[in-house]
Amino acid sequence: MKVLIVGGGGREHAIARKLRQSPKLSELYCAPGNAGIAADAVCVDIAADDIGGIAAFAEEKSMDLVVIGPELPLAMGLTDALAERGLRVFGPDRSCARLEASKSFTKSFLERHGIPTAKYMEFDDKAELLEHIGQFGFPMVLKADGLAAGKGVVMAETPAAAEAAIEDMMGRRVFGAAGDRVVVEECLVGTEASMLCFVDGSTIVPMESAQDYKRAFDGDRGPNTGGMGCYSPSLVFSDALEDEIRERILAPTFEGFKADGLDYRGVLFIGLMITEDGPKVIEFNNRFGDPETQAVLPRLESDLLEIFLAVTEDRLAEQELRWSDRRAVCVVLASGGYPGSYGKGKPISGLDSVDGDVAVYHAGTAFDGQGGTVSAGGRVLGVTALGESHGEARARAYANVERIRFEGAHYRRDIGLLGGFDPDGGTGGE
Ligand code: AMP
Ligand code: GLY
Repeated sequence: MKVLIVGGGGREHAIARKLRQSPKLSELYCAPGNAGIAADAVCVDIAADDIGGIAAFAEEKSMDLVVIGPELPLAMGLTDALAERGLRVFGPDRSCARLEASKSFTKSFLERHGIPTAKYMEFDDKAELLEHIGQFGFPMVLKADGLAAGKGVVMAETPAAAEAAIEDMMGRRVFGAAGDRVVVEECLVGTEASMLCFVDGSTIVPMESAQDYKRAFDGDRGPNTGGMGCYSPSLVFSDALEDEIRERILAPTFEGFKADGLDYRGVLFIGLMITEDGPKVIEFNNRFGDPETQAVLPRLESDLLEIFLAVTEDRLAEQELRWSDRRAVCVVLASGGYPGSYGKGKPISGLDSVDGDVAVYHAGTAFDGQGGTVSAGGRVLGVTALGESHGEARARAYANVERIRFEGAHYRRDIGLLGGFDPDGGTGGE
């Protein structure tokens, strides 16, 4: 089968690596891809949000399947454009993509179907929101309604900070139209965890859990990023908690899709807060997480291409998903300055000194034209190691990260530590 992956980050690299293991795969393409993906797929220079360009290329090449990685092309209707051309797509259509592209759409979906989530109010008018600030507690959670590249959520600690964030979103319109509506939420307290699920018309099936580290610096300090590292399975999950999530969140979500006429197909990423009152939904995303995918997919033993095909044909309920018991830890190497401004084009060394069974997923890399690889984004690489224990995976990930160098590189040293300590009490590497 000929498959096209849309996107060019670490998530797409992990998807490419896993698809390569399928005996059904004959040709693999990626648009636009990156320097690492180029070793696993034919990279095509078309941007992920060039809907017309991707659709034309997929049609011309008679792709058997198109897998969409990032949220933007999903929200822009790439699935619909491909389906109109009679092509098979893994990824929800534009109407379902509102579950990530509009926080207000998602909050009303959650409320309507009785799914636990933070209480909320929404505002379209800046003056009205400013007038109401006094009635909210602090930190006040303010969210731009639309897509804002992961930067549209502000936890304002004081009324002055809330006013500044509201001015940015609704006054200066730093997120454009995405900030014209603002959702204000109750602040949830607890531990966050990510649950990625496959969904088709027949069922919803959770993958193994994962834990993301969103802040830039050790000890969960500094600004929010796309994710500085991840491990799987999550250490806060238990069988009882998973049962509760299935019953109180997954089942009503799937029923809600049916009731609302949403023909959801693809991955549903559920951001959860495990609170004292049980698990609550923080957000939905319409796609695989990044870097969750780099920690979860290496543990999948089933054929990913088979699963993708099953989802497009409503056969997911018949699929058996097999997972390795091994633990995975993924550490992200980022450019100096990320998530603020950062330099590009820094030569990367040490890539060939990594252990053969440790995966280096490229997130933001390019070729320098002379056979070398250079940095080309904020998050540059993700190094994933597997281990029989969590501590072993963690120690192996860090031992390999240390062999890779580029000017200004930074990474968190506490990925895989739970609140600063090693849950295995063993060879954490710190
Ligand atoms: P989101 O883009 O909705 O995932 O929000 C980004 C991050 O903000 C989340 O991963 C949480 O850490 C935090 N966050 C969002 N909503 C809430 C909330 N209601 N209470 C506490 N933290 C939140
Ligand atoms: N790691 C969070 C996300 O992919 O949105």
